[in-house]
Amino acid sequence: MNNDPYARAAEAATALKSSTGVDSFDVALVMGSGWVPAADAIGRTVAEIPVTDLPGFAPPSVEGHAGRVRAVTTGSGTNVLIFLGRTHLYEGLGVEPVVHGVRTALAAGVRTVVLTNAAGGLRPETQNVGDPVLISDHINLTGANPITGARFVDLTAVYSPRLRELAREADPSLAEGVYVAFRGPTYETPAEIRMCRAIGGDMVGMSTVLEAIAAREGGAEVLGLSLVTNPGAGLVGEPLNHEEVLAVGRATATRMGALLARVIDKL
Ligand code: 6GU
Repeated sequence: MNNDPYARAAEAATALKSSTGVDSFDVALVMGSGWVPAADAIGRTVAEIPVTDLPGFAPPSVEGHAGRVRAVTTGSGTNVLIFLGRTHLYEGLGVEPVVHGVRTALAAGVRTVVLTNAAGGLRPETQNVGDPVLISDHINLTGANPITGARFVDLTAVYSPRLRELAREADPSLAEGVYVAFRGPTYETPAEIRMCRAIGGDMVGMSTVLEAIAAREGGAEVLGLSLVTNPGAGLVGEPLNHEEVLAVGRATATRMGALLARVIDKL
């Protein structure tokens, strides 16, 4: 296989087009593997394949199953490429597999990348568990960067002000916040969570920032959306109840899907 990551993405895009029968995609939507109900709300499924059918994608990880990629057409004819599942930096495969999906999408024509995640909330005073929050900016504490070699990419407006405006039109109650990314896979300590608050963070997680950088490098517009599933460590008295967190995710997937469908409709 080709050693150049951009050429590998171009190869994957060619395979994607032939296996889905879709010639060009407009929007990519990256979601966790548990977000199928949200994906179902976006539009009509044209094709769905395991990502491992395409060259360059990482094999199944801890979760025991490979991510899937779904080709969807919306009511207004927008071709959306939905990634159900993503590769994380904490899987230890390096940066390139983390951004291969975004680069493949760009090579398949995508100019708009929507990145979603489940995140810890750093502002329990104002955030409710289950709230979607627009990402206004990020702080990359992963120690990694998808761009290798001295190429300087401007990150003044990683998360497109224009797309954030569209999202707020779709849901005027949407809050905005700064997403802090760690490599994981450990959750943060209470001291790290206090640091995140002190440096201006509002949400914390282990994904999204490298994909956003890769999308900006390729000139696409990025929209980021976090679902706050729990407060960060040490912010509330009680320890986290994992069952409650899962229930929040299930209850909110449909709401996230409706929101994403409305936003994509406006693009
Ligand atoms: Cl508290 N931290 C991180 N890094 N990721 C999360 C989280 C916390 N809650 C959900 N995802």
